[in-house]
Amino acid sequence: MSGPNTNYDPVETTPLQSEALEQMVAEATAAFAGAVTVADLKAARIAHTGDRSPLALANREIGALPPQARKEAGQRIGKARGEVNKALKAREEVVRAAELERVLTEERVDVTLPVELAPAGAVHPITGLMDRIAEVFVAMGWEIAEGPEAEAEWTNFDALNLHADHPARQMQDTLYLAPVENNTLLRTHTSPVQVRTMLDREPPIYVICPGKVYRADELDATHVPVFHQVEGLCVDKGITFAHLRGTLEHFARAMFGDVKTRMRPNYFPFTEPSAEVDLECFVCHGESVGNPERPCRTCNSEGWIEWGGCGVVNPRVLRAAGVDPDVYSGFAFGMGIERTLMFRNDAADMRDMIEGDIRFSRSLLGGAR
Ligand code: PHE
Repeated sequence: MSGPNTNYDPVETTPLQSEALEQMVAEATAAFAGAVTVADLKAARIAHTGDRSPLALANREIGALPPQARKEAGQRIGKARGEVNKALKAREEVVRAAELERVLTEERVDVTLPVELAPAGAVHPITGLMDRIAEVFVAMGWEIAEGPEAEAEWTNFDALNLHADHPARQMQDTLYLAPVENNTLLRTHTSPVQVRTMLDREPPIYVICPGKVYRADELDATHVPVFHQVEGLCVDKGITFAHLRGTLEHFARAMFGDVKTRMRPNYFPFTEPSAEVDLECFVCHGESVGNPERPCRTCNSEGWIEWGGCGVVNPRVLRAAGVDPDVYSGFAFGMGIERTLMFRNDAADMRDMIEGDIRFSRSLLGGAR
């Protein structure tokens, strides 16, 4: 058995020699000094103070030394580590400050630069006007009803007393959906919503239905193949033509201000009696009538312009929709929204309403409401 090796010189263990440690400190300090970014410094920190750094490895050597030599070696390493940490800390402050400075300059936002303006949209005047109409009726306690645009032929025609050979059922007016045997079409008016509403609920019924309708028309200044109507339906006990007249008077005033209206006998299969509602021409106020020197283009010198159709609901329609005509009666009306917009906002050409030019919408914004 050999005794402890008292001759063992700890200084001889290379990584623990003062020069070696000084070298490590010098290398670490140089690496820190060379680090420019926070990332560089992190790499240098791991390399020179991490678990696998020369100093950490040297530290492990201490365990191999004889006990009496460990203290001194430990102190030497501790001192070297202290120096390295101090250098790291000092450099960290410098690098952080530089980084902050860089971010503040490079990422500065110039609030005086002009902003790129994305053009904002606008509510289409047709939508705006339909909303306005809804508000007028909701304020009187009416409700909004809706129906599909792809409609059954029965609801669009038959239930409304439009017999099979009625001219409106001819193919040139109505857009049928293929296959024709399905008897489905694009609704030609909003009146099928009357039928749907009566089938759906019990009177009293006070509803309006604003919506899109379709007819196989050529596009010109006064015709569009897809347009909008607002349908009104009231079914209650004791409803007469007088209620219809009063309601439309209120509606006309809400749309056009102080305007004169008149009703002219007309024919619709779904109402009896039926009438056409006219507005007094707001351009000539009737002065062009019989006055060839001052003709009026708006009303064709007739003094009145046609606004929409209306009437007392035909008992046959009530019956088809499951309402007893001996107990209830009602009235209905239907107006074109495009026409209403034309009169109300002086929009002369219907094509403007479908082109989607934001300037048109903007010019009528507010006016359409
Ligand atoms: N549905 C008719 C049309 O499109 C308008 C109307 C509705 C007439 C309600 C009378 C009653 O022309």
